[in-house]
Amino acid sequence: MTDVAPLFRPFRIRGLTLKNRIVMAPMTRARSPGASPNDANVGYYARRAAGGVGLILSEGTHTRRKGAGNDANVPLFWGEQPLAGWRRVIDAVHAAGGRMGPQLWHQGMRRERGTGHFPDAPSDGPSGINLLGEKIADEPSEAEVLDMAQAYADAAGDAKRLGFDCVELHGAHGYLIDEFFWERTNRRTDRFGGSIEKRAEFAREAIRRCRVAVGELPIFIRISQWKATDYAAKVAASPHELERWVGVLAEAGVDAIHCSQRRILEPEFPGIDGPNGLNLAGWVKKLSGLPTISVGSVGLTSEFMGAFRGEGSSVGKLDETVARLERGEFDLVAVGRALLQDPDWALKVEGGRHHELRDYDAKALQTYF
Ligand SMILES: Cc1cc2nc3c(=O)[nH]c(=O)nc-3n(C[C@H](O)[C@H](O)[C@H](O)COP(=O)(O)O)c2cc1C
Repeated sequence: MTDVAPLFRPFRIRGLTLKNRIVMAPMTRARSPGASPNDANVGYYARRAAGGVGLILSEGTHTRRKGAGNDANVPLFWGEQPLAGWRRVIDAVHAAGGRMGPQLWHQGMRRERGTGHFPDAPSDGPSGINLLGEKIADEPSEAEVLDMAQAYADAAGDAKRLGFDCVELHGAHGYLIDEFFWERTNRRTDRFGGSIEKRAEFAREAIRRCRVAVGELPIFIRISQWKATDYAAKVAASPHELERWVGVLAEAGVDAIHCSQRRILEPEFPGIDGPNGLNLAGWVKKLSGLPTISVGSVGLTSEFMGAFRGEGSSVGKLDETVARLERGEFDLVAVGRALLQDPDWALKVEGGRHHELRDYDAKALQTYF
């Protein structure tokens, strides 16, 4: 049986000590009609905290830009009522012994106009270009871009005020921050567009402003090479480009980088270090010197996009993931679907109760507990 002890060693990041290395991956559930976290949402997060997860990252929750989201059941992270709901969430998570940060989410041009909490609001993006590369709106002014960055910082400041333990900026999957990173969607010619360093300037600005708002609270950013519309897409085609990209984030003062992959064991640059080479989190840690969170099919055999097609997944082995954590390839391991299926997943893994782990059933997306 796999020795899972490395998963259950504490980890310290700035002033935050996590009791183990297991992170609940951010997962949109769209269960907050009216924009505010409700009793069901409070119970859902508190259950995962009681189930032994070291750190919970919330579902993506929107910044105050009115065009930030496409679904009116996704909670906002601004305004009196939503923030009162989030305060109940963090109080319940703390009471259950957990730690938690909100994932701050602005969908950028992936949000279709006419959707979300404010259907009349325009969608924001670096160049008014959608993920297919089509120009569908005007390019925003620099002042508007700075307001988009400040919106993350306003939310981060509220997170600190409410008592959250960290914040994560959603900079992955083709959403706003990632649209700045990606050449296809960012055609700006000012300081926010051009070289990889300049395309990372928006993230730098957002991180810098978040730091002013949160002081010593840890700030994470989630990045990915892939886009929801294009799994083969790459922001960085080589380690050199990746180093320049994450170097900007490190210099901006981010505390950890969360590297989204569909399969944790997938090598990022197999042409360089082979089929069992470092994954994205491994390369980012090596090139930035920052702690990283890795993710993707942990404890399961197939990847998560299948979940949206109604597919389940069998229980998978943890041995190679634990071995890589032990080698220091990455520092924290995020778990998504296994925690939807079973809030006590971490306790069962820690207790060696592997026979109690169940396959992921796609119906877990329809239920909410
Ligand atoms: C239902 C669902 C909702 C998701 N929502 C988000 C999200 O809001 N933000 C995000 O960064 N990733 C989101 N993801 C991706 C997960 O955070 C995670 O990276 C992915 O599920 C892979 O982990 P897993 O294989 O352990 O499920 C979502 C995944 C699922 C299954």
